[in-house]
Amino acid sequence: MKETYQLRRSTLLDGKQGPCMVFIFSGSAPMRSADESYPFSVDRNFYYLTGIDRENMILMLYKDFSGNVTETLFIEPYDEVMAKWVGGRMRAAEATEISGVQSVRDIGSFEDALNSIIERNRGLGKLHVYLDLWRYHKDQADTPAHKLAKRIRTEYPAVEIDEIFGELAAMRAVKSEDEIALMRKAQEATRIAVEAMMRHAYPGVNESELEGAFDFSLMKQGVREHAFHSIVAGGGHATTLHYNKNNSIVEDGQMVLIDLGSAVDHYCSDISRTFPVNGKFTDRQKEIYNAVLEAQKLVIRTAKPGMTLRQLNDLVVEYYESRLDDLGLRKDGKGVRDYYYHSVSHQLGLDCHDVCTERERELKPGMVITVEPGLYIEDEAIGVRIENDVMITEDGCIDLSSDILRTVEEIEALMAK
Ligand code: GLY
Ligand code: MN
Repeated sequence: MKETYQLRRSTLLDGKQGPCMVFIFSGSAPMRSADESYPFSVDRNFYYLTGIDRENMILMLYKDFSGNVTETLFIEPYDEVMAKWVGGRMRAAEATEISGVQSVRDIGSFEDALNSIIERNRGLGKLHVYLDLWRYHKDQADTPAHKLAKRIRTEYPAVEIDEIFGELAAMRAVKSEDEIALMRKAQEATRIAVEAMMRHAYPGVNESELEGAFDFSLMKQGVREHAFHSIVAGGGHATTLHYNKNNSIVEDGQMVLIDLGSAVDHYCSDISRTFPVNGKFTDRQKEIYNAVLEAQKLVIRTAKPGMTLRQLNDLVVEYYESRLDDLGLRKDGKGVRDYYYHSVSHQLGLDCHDVCTERERELKPGMVITVEPGLYIEDEAIGVRIENDVMITEDGCIDLSSDILRTVEEIEALMAK
């Protein structure tokens, strides 16, 4: 695998003139209490470029004036006491073995290394420093990259700071065969756990017990990573798109909407299914369910390179518009957007809502997107969402979730056993 990471790093530098530097931080977990931190989640760009899943590391790529490239990883030194309490930090040799980065240095020397490269380049033309300065929310606190950008701007105003998120996002959006293989593993683990959950369902079950059945099945498989916080929504809770209290009784006659997924080596699956808790759809539930399923099939039939997520969503809205009367939903001045208030797709990969999820971006072969139409009818306490993950090919798409049972008949047959 280290060849993969090496190739990604050199691809990133390929189009860049020296002198330039790239810094990517692995991140760290915020503290939760005196001696406990929140779970650590590695910066996905750092992971994509190194394969390393550890805190407090910095990747530095440096291309000098003549085009020579130096790669350096800055890591925390090994600490014998920490090793006894929480396990050992990664040693330099292991970091090199995983990432292929030959030079591994103590993170304490990072500032000196940075300053000395900047000084060395004084008078040799504009030095560019590339950082991932993307904020997922406008109020998001400064990351180490933002802090470094501020420091360089103050101390070295002649250095040019450039954003590198867009380039990394474009690379990450198109998946390799190895990445697809990991995503398929996540699909399979999720399939097994979804079936376990459906088998476990009964009228009067708590949403949390169903969530537990899913988690237990994943853990039985040795899969500990979730792509995101599971949504298990009984009855009317399903009309809240990201309901995740998951702690109410599901009554006989109600459906359960689940939206969840495992991840393998951080590669996500994102699956939604909706099923009757007693194992048998009512006629009305079936009617709504099949309308959503038709919308999903329409998108899967149509998705191909050159289309945009907005166009795919327009298909769903148009289809629902054509069904509103026969579904008995054109009432009280309501339109499609009163029953379907999200979009049909987002990109999927190292993040659940992955990079390049903009509505107008054209699809390319190798991209993986979700296809997740829904219908949410508050006054009937019905919410249905059906979500599969598909990979765009040269002329269409492949459904990576096709093994996860989906039709009314398949669900009823499984739950009858
Ligand atoms: N799986 C949650 C979402 O796509 O928003
Ligand atoms: Mn999704």
